[in-house]
Formats: sequence, structure tokens, C-alpha cells
Amino acid sequence: MKAIVGYSAKEAVQWLHLGEPVALPTETVYGLAAPLSEETTIKKIYTLKRRPIENPLIVHVLNTQQLEEIAFVSTTASTLAENYWPGPLTLVLKKKDCVPNIVTGGLPSVAVRAPQAPLFREVISLLKEPLVAPSANTFQQLSPTTAQHVLQDLGSEISYILDGGPCTFGLESTILSLLDEEKPTLLRHGPITKEALESFLQKPIIDGTSIQVHLSPGLYKKHYSPKKPLYWVQRLEGFIPSKFYEKQFKENAAHVFLYPPQHKLQPNEYVLSPSKSLQEVATHLFKCLQTLDKENWSSIWIEKAPDYGIGKAINDRLSRAAHFNLTI
Ligand code: TXA
Ligand code: MG
Repeated sequence: MKAIVGYSAKEAVQWLHLGEPVALPTETVYGLAAPLSEETTIKKIYTLKRRPIENPLIVHVLNTQQLEEIAFVSTTASTLAENYWPGPLTLVLKKKDCVPNIVTGGLPSVAVRAPQAPLFREVISLLKEPLVAPSANTFQQLSPTTAQHVLQDLGSEISYILDGGPCTFGLESTILSLLDEEKPTLLRHGPITKEALESFLQKPIIDGTSIQVHLSPGLYKKHYSPKKPLYWVQRLEGFIPSKFYEKQFKENAAHVFLYPPQHKLQPNEYVLSPSKSLQEVATHLFKCLQTLDKENWSSIWIEKAPDYGIGKAINDRLSRAAHFNLTI
């Protein structure tokens, strides 16, 4: 392993000054970061992640003042930022010229958010400029929610991982496009729900998550996947697989329930939220899949979340992660 796992924002900045991307904790997932103005370091991120160059990155700022330096900020954008930042809401706005094309995949827009995690904020303050950061995982793999996940995935290729403990939200930020002021459009479900944004803005938001391939180049159909076959079902309690799936379901398969089932848990059964909270399901989801993926199971079976609130973001990730979708 090459990477040092440390706790110092100063050290992280030293590595950035040397032109090395570093992994940083955010409240959503860990990011692999580079300074906005350092194109060579940014290029390294694409190579390390094996990420297609046309898939744009999110720029992380400290506050609305820094936002104004890189994007054209409408009244709607600034009210949203004032209310939800720092936090897991990414806004897509028209970019200013100082944002390099490599960040936006050549698009005239830029995605921006102000992260909440104190260590990440300290790094931006010390660096005195915004940082671009995609999730710190190899392209299409599960997003990391602990420093250990990053170490296992990219540890042999990067120099420094700043350990801020497990991420509180556990799912990537909500992405909202404000390119057309009249038609705010949701590009990715996340911790801040469509319903919450609609009630805050007092107007409907277009759900662009199903036509996202055109709107957000990075939202691939296949994404966030474990290596083991992942089966997605409506409910596991009382689930009876068809003849075709019987063997896979019964033989050495891990079963992941969202909430505690009625029966006594078997050794192959896991529960994401003992307290029956959807937010807790989100927080533990990637971590649980990462762990099971490394263990000796032949496949992983997981349930669908109720389709409201953050359940929408959970189902969005699972629909992309699953190799077999048996919910429809
Ligand atoms: O919570 C998060 O957002 C995490 C942490 C590290 O901040 N970051 C993250 O980055 O999830 P990434 O690269 O895994 O996902 C960024 C998404 C991609 O789907 C990309 O296509 C979209 O943001 N995106 C970036 N710039 C965009 C733009 N100008 N227009 C539309 N979509 C954009
Ligand atoms: Mg990602």
C-alpha cells in the first residue's frame, strides 16, 4: 500500500501542493480531490478512477462568495445555497471562464456544492481555492464511506487519505440543475429530497433522473456496483424465488433487510437499520455492500426501499448497482 492514512488537513494540502490528488472525507461519501486550477492533478483523478473524460466533476467551495467566482448565480441559486449549504446539495449553474474545461467535460455549466465536513472545509480554507472531487472509488464501483474503503480500492495508487471517520449521509449529494431558472431539474436523487426542494422553492421540480443520460453525463445506467452478483427484490421476508433463481437465493447467499424482519435473524441475514429509519439505511448501505462483497458469499440479495424521501435515492443507487432487478 502506498497511501498514508492521516488526520491532518495541513498534510493533505502539502500533498496537493506536490501535485498529488488526495482522498478527503465529506458528509456524503469520500472524494478524490484536486485544486480547481491544477489541470495536471485533475487529469490524474480521471486516470486513477479510470473515469471517462467527458464525465464532469463537482467543484467544492467554502461558501457563496467562492461560488460567485466560478459561476453565474441567480436569485434561486443563492437562496438555495443560503438555506442548504454547507450540505449535500449540488447546484448546476452556468460556468465562468476560470473553470477549466477538463472539470466540466467541455460543458458550459458547472456543478458546485459546499461540503459540510469540517476537515474538507479546512482543506479548502488552507488552499484558498475550491477543490474538484468525484467520489474516491474506481469508476462504476461502490462509493466509499470510510477511509478504509478508499484504502482498499485506490490505496496502492494515491498518496494520502484524510480520515474523517464514517460519512454521516452515506449517499452522494442531490444534484439540481438551475440552468433554466423557470425549470429547476433534479439530476440525481440524494439526501435532500425533491419534495423538500419543492416545498422550499414553492414550485414544482422536473424529475430529470430518468432522462439523465443527456442532462448529466455521469449518471450511467450501471454504477455503484459490487463485484458479487447483486439481486434486487421487492421484499425479502417471505420471498419465494422462481425455479430459475432458487439455487442462487439459497446457496451461500447474503440477504440484506432494510429493517428487522419478523423472524429470528439467520447467520446469512443482515439488517441495515435496526431503528427502522430510511436515513440509517442510506448511511449503512454502501458500507454493508462493501463488506459483503469482500466476504465469502456467492451473491448478495437486497430489498427495495419505499419510494419516498431518501428512499428514492436509495432505490436509484440500487437500480444501478443490481445485476438482477427482480422488483419489476
Ligand atoms: O456527494 C457528492 O456529490 C460526492 C462528494 C465527493 O462531494 N461527489 C460525487 O461526485 O458524487 P461524482 O463525480 O461521483 O458525481 C458527480 C456527478 C456526475 O454524475 C456528473 O455527471 C454530475 O455530477 N455533473 C458534474 N458536473 C455536471 C454538469 N455540469 N452538468 C450535469 N451534471 C454534472
Ligand atoms: Mg461517483
